[in-house]
Amino acid sequence: MRTVDLIQRKRNGEELSPEEIRWLVESYTRGEIPDYQMSAFLMAVYFQNMTDHEVGAMVDAMIDSGERIDLSSVSGPKVDKHSTGGVGDKTSLIAGPLAAAAGVKVPMLSGRALGHTGGTLDKLESIPGFRTNLSIEEFREVLDKVGFAVIGQSEKVAPADGKLYALRDATATVESPALIAASIMSKKLAVGLDGLVLDVKVGAGAFMKRQVEARRLAQMMVTIARRKDLRAQALITDMNQPLGRAIGNALEIMEVSQTLLGAGPEDLTQISLELAARMIFLGRITETLDEARDLATRLLVERMGYMKFKEMIAAQGGNPQVLDRFELLPNAPYSYEIVSPRSGYVAAIDAEEIGRASAMLGAGRNTKEDTVDPAVGVFLEVKVGARVEEGNVLCRIHYTNSEGLQEAIDRIEDAFRISTSEPEPRDLILEVVG
Ligand code: URA
Repeated sequence: MRTVDLIQRKRNGEELSPEEIRWLVESYTRGEIPDYQMSAFLMAVYFQNMTDHEVGAMVDAMIDSGERIDLSSVSGPKVDKHSTGGVGDKTSLIAGPLAAAAGVKVPMLSGRALGHTGGTLDKLESIPGFRTNLSIEEFREVLDKVGFAVIGQSEKVAPADGKLYALRDATATVESPALIAASIMSKKLAVGLDGLVLDVKVGAGAFMKRQVEARRLAQMMVTIARRKDLRAQALITDMNQPLGRAIGNALEIMEVSQTLLGAGPEDLTQISLELAARMIFLGRITETLDEARDLATRLLVERMGYMKFKEMIAAQGGNPQVLDRFELLPNAPYSYEIVSPRSGYVAAIDAEEIGRASAMLGAGRNTKEDTVDPAVGVFLEVKVGARVEEGNVLCRIHYTNSEGLQEAIDRIEDAFRISTSEPEPRDLILEVVG
């Protein structure tokens, strides 16, 4: 097989066979196909899409690029949760501990910042000492003992996703439903799960801008899961404005702590509770979804998720005190206030612009070799619907150096729309698939 022929056929809109897809994934993972050819292939997929057969073949090849994590020795139902990517989306770190506190085992295989969206692994790594590179044995031990453990894909687990994820991020090929589905499902199916809750984001700050695309992506992933006998449900949730108020790695850990203590922003709390409830229900801890919702709410009120998250941080080498003493987290030395140019209502806060600005300050990556700055980000003082007067602070930018600062300021100023009329409230949870 010649890579250039496969690129050409995909570029021309042809369907590739499972063997051809497998050969591409295996050869690229082994380093036998250079980045420039794989980039061209990804761009062809971006424009031409993939059939369900092709996506299925890609998922299988990506899982087989590494080891599968057998969790049969860990007792209890194993349920994971994954988001397709959002801005300020830290729900995994709230829903995961709550579900674990209810008795679900949550083996989470998470990702890093991608495009303008954040990544759970980067957020966790802002905690001093926290290790996301546990061996499979250590991962199993933390899961068994604590009920919640998070690692990333690695040389051993779904290595193809690691390489492709970084390449997509650097080649503007992230927003392809087929590539997103293959990336997520290859990680999730590499782990022996009983259930999976997917949060498919839609709107300005999501990779899927329209609900019909988000629905298609949700259906694709739920179908892939069901074919492998995995119970799966997908929520389609709004990502027009950032979720919660904090955007940026350490800032988001602080907001997770506040939310697990019951003092978090309303939107973040609502979505996290619903995701936790679905995890509890899929794990068959309760008989009905309503019982699962009641249980998740009670665990939040009783701070059981907060205790569980602390336990997990300690088990993965981090300092759990960061949840009480935010000065132990990386804090940016400088801040800059964006103020409202006029009086009125906050009609929109474009999540993609805020995510891009935050990435530009160092919270995300421009090239796949970049490291992230855990301290930087944006903190929203207002959310959509708030009444503001001219000169009121809309948000604070936390930065470490002035590189990229002016462009970030311009983007953030553009992201806010102030209008004379009060905007209609929007639903947060738009649809359930599966
Ligand atoms: N999350 C992933 O793991 N992969 C994607 O492509 C997008 C979100």
